[in-house]
Amino acid sequence: MTTASTPPSSRAVPDLSGKTAIVTGASRGIGLATAQALADAGANVVLTSRKQEAADAAAAQIAGNAIGVGAHAVEEDQARRCIDRTLETYGSVDILINNAGTNPAFGPLIDQDHGRFAKTFDVNLWAPLMWTALATEAWMGEHGGSVVNTASIGGLGHEAGIGMYNASKAALIYVTKQLALELSPKVRVNAVAPGVVRTKLAEALWKDHEERVAASTALDRIGEPDDVAAAIVFLASDAAGWVTGETMVIDGGQRLGDATAYRTGAGVGV
Ligand SMILES: NC(=O)c1ccc[n+]([C@@H]2O[C@H](COP(=O)([O-])OP(=O)(O)OC[C@H]3O[C@@H](n4cnc5c(N)ncnc54)[C@H](OP(=O)(O)O)[C@@H]3O)[C@@H](O)[C@H]2O)c1
Repeated sequence: MTTASTPPSSRAVPDLSGKTAIVTGASRGIGLATAQALADAGANVVLTSRKQEAADAAAAQIAGNAIGVGAHAVEEDQARRCIDRTLETYGSVDILINNAGTNPAFGPLIDQDHGRFAKTFDVNLWAPLMWTALATEAWMGEHGGSVVNTASIGGLGHEAGIGMYNASKAALIYVTKQLALELSPKVRVNAVAPGVVRTKLAEALWKDHEERVAASTALDRIGEPDDVAAAIVFLASDAAGWVTGETMVIDGGQRLGDATAYRTGAGVGV
């Protein structure tokens, strides 16, 4: 079958030569793919993970200029150290990708407790806000910059079992718009909203039923980290120079609804 959707290999990329990007949560998955895509576009890249060794190991995989910095996304002193180290090493912080995310809170909202709420919202909402504030104070406020937050299509709708996570992503989409206004015109702030992507975080959503998820997706496959990375690089770059406050859905058409019936014709009415 010919398809309009092949996994990315050699897509044209914007030119980010001379720019420096921090990617939080870059030890694997979407963050690691984004770091490589930014490096492919010519940027210097700083990859973070909770563990220095994991950050170093990820940076060592990047073809291009890259360093790893151990920094828990929620710890302000660690975030400051990461930004300082970035400025010392590369001289600027032009791009910030707030990608670190977590989902410790499965089940109905009314079954959650404050601990799971706090962890979810600290990592998924407070950290992007704090890192944006620090990057703005340290560099972007004066020199300009571009921030991209990794939200989720879950933040645009409702799903059983992951309401807490989705609430944090809905709030991140709101914060993206608010910051786009508050930091204008110097700093652009956008978000991506991925659907189901082949990563560890989302394993429960695809691992044992990938075929079914793919079949119900208009573009007939689940997402790859590179699919999201390509969109993040676009939003981070001058190619999106007149885009701010936006959330770009990258989901192979999953938000359109179940595509299975359209392929079989079962959904055809009289
Ligand atoms: N995969 C999907 O289907 C999907 C869909 C929509 C949105 N997203 C979002 O995409 C982003 C990336 O997730 P992923 O799917 O690529 O998952 P992943 O492969 O599990 O990667 C998660 C990354 O976040 C880092 N991380 C987690 N907690 C952290 C913290 N407190 N401080 C610093 N880093 C932290 C992890 O690093 P260490 O463990 O090394 O610290 C890892 O590098 C998340 O924001 C997620 O919500 C994913």
